[in-house]
Amino acid sequence: MEATTSLLDAAAVGDLVLLDPLTEESLLHTLQERFRHSDIYTYIGNVVISVNPYQSLPIYTPEKVQEYHNCNFFAVKPHIYAIADDAYRSLRDRDRDQCILITGESGAGKTEASKLVMSYVAAVCSKGEEVDKVKEQLLQSNPVLEAFGNAKTIRNDNSSRFGKYMDVEFDFKGEPLGGVISNYLLEKSRIVRHVKGERNFHIFYQLLAGGSAQLLQQLKLHQDCRHYGYLNRESSGLPGMDDAANFRAMQDAMRVIGFSPAEVTALLEVTAVVLKLGNVQLSSSFQASGMEACSIAETQELQEICQLIGLDPSILEQALCSRTVKARDEMVRTTLSVPQGYYGRDALAKNIYSRLFDWLVNRINTSIQVKPGKQRKVMGVLDIYGFEIFQDNGFEQFIINYCNEKLQQIFILMTLKEEQEEYIREGIQWTPVEFFDNSIICNLIENSKCGILAMLDEECLRPGVVNEDTFLTKLNQLFATHKHYESKETQNAQHVMDASLPSQCFRIHHYAGKVTYNVTGFIEKNNDLLFRDLSQAMWASQHALLHSLFPEGDPQKVSLKLPPTASFQFKASVATLMKNLYSKNPNYIRCIKPNETKTAMLFTPELVLAQIRYLGLMENVRVRRAGYAFRQLYDSFLERYKMLSPRTWPRWTGSHREGTEVLLADLAFPPEELAFGHTKIFIRSPRTLFDLERRRQERVAELATLIQKIFRGWRCRTQYQLMRKSQIIISAWFRGHMEKNKYKQMKRSALIIQAYARGWKSRRLLRELKSQCHRHTAATTIAAYWRGYKARRAYRRYFRSGASTRLANFIYRRLVQKFLVGLARNLPPLLVLDRTWPPAPYKFLADANQELRSIFYRWKCKKYREQLTPQRRALLQAKLHASELFKDKKALYSISPVPSLQQPFQGEYLGLTQNPKYQKLHAVAKDKLVMADTVRKVNRANGKAVPRLLLLTTEHLVLADPKAAQPKTVLSLGDIHSISVTRFSDGFLALHLKETSTGGAKGDFLLISDHLIELVTRLHQTLMDATAQALPLHITDQYGFSTRFPKGAMAITVVESDKVGSNIPVCKKRGSNKMEVLVH
Ligand SMILES: Nc1ncnc2c1ncn2[C@@H]1O[C@H](COP(=O)(O)OP(=O)(O)OP(=O)(O)O)[C@@H](O)[C@H]1O
Ligand SMILES: [Mg+2]
Repeated sequence: MEATTSLLDAAAVGDLVLLDPLTEESLLHTLQERFRHSDIYTYIGNVVISVNPYQSLPIYTPEKVQEYHNCNFFAVKPHIYAIADDAYRSLRDRDRDQCILITGESGAGKTEASKLVMSYVAAVCSKGEEVDKVKEQLLQSNPVLEAFGNAKTIRNDNSSRFGKYMDVEFDFKGEPLGGVISNYLLEKSRIVRHVKGERNFHIFYQLLAGGSAQLLQQLKLHQDCRHYGYLNRESSGLPGMDDAANFRAMQDAMRVIGFSPAEVTALLEVTAVVLKLGNVQLSSSFQASGMEACSIAETQELQEICQLIGLDPSILEQALCSRTVKARDEMVRTTLSVPQGYYGRDALAKNIYSRLFDWLVNRINTSIQVKPGKQRKVMGVLDIYGFEIFQDNGFEQFIINYCNEKLQQIFILMTLKEEQEEYIREGIQWTPVEFFDNSIICNLIENSKCGILAMLDEECLRPGVVNEDTFLTKLNQLFATHKHYESKETQNAQHVMDASLPSQCFRIHHYAGKVTYNVTGFIEKNNDLLFRDLSQAMWASQHALLHSLFPEGDPQKVSLKLPPTASFQFKASVATLMKNLYSKNPNYIRCIKPNETKTAMLFTPELVLAQIRYLGLMENVRVRRAGYAFRQLYDSFLERYKMLSPRTWPRWTGSHREGTEVLLADLAFPPEELAFGHTKIFIRSPRTLFDLERRRQERVAELATLIQKIFRGWRCRTQYQLMRKSQIIISAWFRGHMEKNKYKQMKRSALIIQAYARGWKSRRLLRELKSQCHRHTAATTIAAYWRGYKARRAYRRYFRSGASTRLANFIYRRLVQKFLVGLARNLPPLLVLDRTWPPAPYKFLADANQELRSIFYRWKCKKYREQLTPQRRALLQAKLHASELFKDKKALYSISPVPSLQQPFQGEYLGLTQNPKYQKLHAVAKDKLVMADTVRKVNRANGKAVPRLLLLTTEHLVLADPKAAQPKTVLSLGDIHSISVTRFSDGFLALHLKETSTGGAKGDFLLISDHLIELVTRLHQTLMDATAQALPLHITDQYGFSTRFPKGAMAITVVESDKVGSNIPVCKKRGSNKMEVLVH
């Protein structure tokens, strides 16, 4: 089996239980051999022995963490990770709270071991943003606490000067939720004093080395350690320790934990105050009374302190140099001597620092604490200051060693005594193994009635003269015969000559060796008193943190009760710790220090042997060997392993013990490996347990596979059934939907057909009914008329009421008839111009008469128009035209002897056809002749008129000489631009020609015509027919108009004169271009 080989293969076995032969030498040799091979960890069962290598080994890598993660404790090489893993799994899987007890003397590696355990647990538990934050905060609490609570001692460069117990809290999944740190009695005397070769707490050196110039200036500090009295005015450097880097790491850690910058500053300010207090020097002076009094020698430091904490320097000065005492209900201020002053100063520094440390722990707890209400599992890690023996051991060493004694007691109780007692209790055959029980030493120290601590308290509280001598005398009396107590007096009584035990000392035979304690300072340290004036001064400071550290300084809360003594407090806290540890499953790491010189890989057999002895390792192995490696209650054992036998799996109905027997019988382990107690099963060798665990793991894997298989099958089946059901539902719904749609379609079609059929039927019926109705109505109407007719006929004679209307109608008709007949007989003549019409005989006929008159007139006109010849019609049109042109415009039109209207338009006045003389002219006019007349042409030079023949054709105007009947002038009608006539009754006209025309070259013609109206009208009409343009006609008044001649324009002035004939004007030339036309 691999596990056993890993434990047995090496030259030295990994588990000392397997050691053969078992002697002190073989055990020591095994440890040495293993140490030589850098195997610093060795088991005794599940107890880990760790030998400090004083050098870093490559066994804490992440790969190693993986190797040990979920490993079997016995299957891998002994390692601290294995015990951490075992404890973590037991906590997570078996729900058992765990505690890891790390013991060993100072420098044996407890603090390192505790950090390794914590880092391992942090590495293996699950990850996540929140979890990582918690883990970081828990891990980062170490550098902060180490800075403030660790110091270099002769034995250890990083010695814990306080006890630390950290409860890491997990949820049910094993994820860390947070934690609580408890601290135990800080060795505060170190603040003010430490022996040569040691150092004060790291923080002071770190602050001075790592603080920036600005920070140091702010804190009013000097960088040089030698400046400070509390740092022993020595240089501080430590090989292998970088204070500056550690300071930065500490500051980072504080940030991670959640300290605000203001909190960090306040913390460092208070630290600086402690450091500076050591430099406050007192000097003696004599008062007026002759009494010696102390005063501040140099106020600079004091003032700086007061500036830092916001306090009036005089208050602090007064508190340091004097003291208020109550004498007969009166407060009296007494001055202090210089030693008293220094005592007060140091007490203040110690108190400030230890309270600051408590505040620091509480502040970290605030950050890492778990919210209440969550169910948690707890893993406690105890890292307490180790057992220590110095040249000069004081109160602190006494307390520290007492604590270690108690831890040894737990170990003895739980591994040696308790175990053996358990075998007997359980009825297992057992040969008792002898071991040293240190209860007697614990009792010597802590017995509440007559223990050393009780005596110390008694001395402190006793009235009268109290000093260390009375205390020592008391002890000597009480423990004169005690085996573990020695003093000069008891030795004298026994006639022992021992120069190593001075008279001021007592010696205790601790489990780990004899330690001689000097009683000097015991009373004072136990009382731990601080002058009230000092605490009040601190309370009065403006510095919030410092102020909060001294609540008792509030003058309102002055209490005369003495505070509990240091030893009382420590005893109480150790008792609480023990109770806490007893309630958890213990896991032991026993640290061994291989040499006194902190040398790497140096193994001093004598030193280690002493530790083997006092740690009781031999007894531990013996009990383990003779006893059983493993025990468990039947019910939990059966519960855990029942799956290994088909008879107990899945359920065993009998008693748990029977079940366990059946189970183990099925597994066929050798009988000597097992023992059945009354309530527990005992398994002798770890090998068997390992085998059991291995089988369980395999079986669990099988069962898990089975469960998975069944679950998957079930899931698939359920899924399939679900899908099938869904499919059926879907198809049912789909089919239903389809059928419904089909049905709806059919219903719609049926309804449409029905509607049509019903409509058709209804319409037919309606038709039928309508025709019936019509017939019926017709029949009814006919019948009604017929009946009415019959009734009227029958009753006509009886009705006379409508007679008057009928008579009136008749008369009206007769009158109309008479009027119309009379009108027909008496019609006016049919002449168009006759507009006579008989008046209406009755008034009611007036409108009708007027209407008839207009109808008659229109009819007459129509008749007249119908009988007109085309020539006559043309003539009338010409007349109409003439009237449009001249009516009311030219006097000739209306006032000439024969009104021109009545004067017929003959057109041909010359008789062209009859007179052969005019044949030539006739040929010119031919069919196109419109008018032929004689006109007079006015000579434009002298105004004389000469006759001319004028021929107007449809295209030309021809002027001809009457004698020769020869055309003199032929004008195209298009050449005529306009005509001007006078408004008088003369026949004068001016024919204006277009300048551009051929005829126009001669200028305008001035003519006198007897038929002016006709001539102009015809000319106008002909031009209109030919060119569809009206010929402009100017009818001028007497002012005349202008004419154009080749010689230039000539103004024609019309002058009205009685001297001239009615229509024959006379033209008179006036000047070269002016002519007067005299008209009537
Ligand atoms: N596992 C280890 N590997 C390497 N060095 C170690 C180991 N354990 C301890 N050391 C070294 O031993 C020194 C002392 O160890 P540690 O501070 O843990 O002792 P301690 O038992 O806590 O002492 P104290 O009781 O004085 O606090 C460490 O500073 C370190 O140098
Ligand atoms: Mg330590």
